[in-house]
Amino acid sequence: MKILVTGGAGFIGGNFVHYMLNKYPNYDIVCLDKLTYAGNLSTLKSVMDNPKFTFCKGDIADKNYVDKLFCEHKFDIVVNFAAESHVDRSIENPQIFLITNVVGTGVLMDCCRKHGNIRFHQVSTDEVYGDLPLDRPDLLFTENTPIHTSSPYSSSKAGADLLVLSYFRTFGLPVTISRCSNNYGPYHFPEKLIPLMITRAIYDKSLPVYGNGLNVRDWLYVEDHCRAIDLIIHNGKIGEVYNVGGHNEKSNIDIVKIILKQLGKSEDLITFVEDRKGHDMRYAIDPTKIYNDLGWLPETKFEDGIKKTIEWYLENQDWWKEIISGEYKNYYDKMYGK
Ligand code: NAD
Ligand code: TYD
Repeated sequence: MKILVTGGAGFIGGNFVHYMLNKYPNYDIVCLDKLTYAGNLSTLKSVMDNPKFTFCKGDIADKNYVDKLFCEHKFDIVVNFAAESHVDRSIENPQIFLITNVVGTGVLMDCCRKHGNIRFHQVSTDEVYGDLPLDRPDLLFTENTPIHTSSPYSSSKAGADLLVLSYFRTFGLPVTISRCSNNYGPYHFPEKLIPLMITRAIYDKSLPVYGNGLNVRDWLYVEDHCRAIDLIIHNGKIGEVYNVGGHNEKSNIDIVKIILKQLGKSEDLITFVEDRKGHDMRYAIDPTKIYNDLGWLPETKFEDGIKKTIEWYLENQDWWKEIISGEYKNYYDKMYGK
């Protein structure tokens, strides 16, 4: 079995590469990644010498490059993690989100069609469903919830999802889509809430919480997401969408307080800053379908996952210190002010 993993130098793709090489030592894994600011070869350092792993630097939206790669390798499955993934950046500069997230997905699927109707899995997000109100805890996103996006990021992911489903209906391409809630865990780029708060709190820096901090996200440990994708690519039904989430809703302010408590730091570090434009209130996944059809359940409880994650950031400071210099520093100063 040969699997193309795009975006494998990023957070979830990187975790997926490690997960798959461990679980299936006989599979060949080829990673295609453009190495944007969010892609880090250091995430893949320990597998670079593995003969079952190949890294290729390239852009999923570059038709000629991707076509050549498909000529060189006979892929059985393509799993597309590659994306521009940060909502705040999409508000600053939407264009690149359209190119990578929509055009790039189209290029990959065209190659899947051309090179033998290859199985294609799209890694999508619960953000395509828009948001839910705080005062209706009974409401959850199901696979039938209408698409109703808020940010250029979620709109680009929704555009890609619709394109994927159209390739199934129009061309019969064997596709699946997973829509997961917010992930956390090792190798998470420190522009996102949890790693940003951990890496800043370690050095007693202020923690910027948007608005009143009451927005809710449904957090899932990244390895549970990898296991869900593994099940879908092996046993999922072609043409189907699967929601992935573990009923773990938490407000941003509670997340920040949990991190501070674990690190033994003062809540005085919390600084409320201007709210994100169009900020989604609440995300919450109903995972009934993936449980009923594929037997998937999350294995890592939040209390354990967050401890493991904080430990990882304490023990792997070289990984993130390298990242928070350079381009990221300019982004941080522009976004939050010096
Ligand atoms: P990430 O930003 O950490 O990583 C994205 C990776 O894609 C990087 O390695 C980057 O270099 C690469 N990339 C970007 N543009 C590329 C291009 N044009 N060609 C090739 N490679 C390119 O993102 P992530 O958090 O790991 O998310 C991975 C996928 O999962 C995304 O599709 C995202 O929408 C989805 N998702 C993320 C979450 C989450 O909580 N992080 C939740 C649900 C779904
Ligand atoms: P984020 O990690 O960017 O993920 P997403 O927007 O895709 O859910 O943000 C998670 C939540 O944390 C979201 O409600 C915005 C909030 N947030 C802050 O309050 N401060 C920050 O500095 C960041 C990056 C996010």
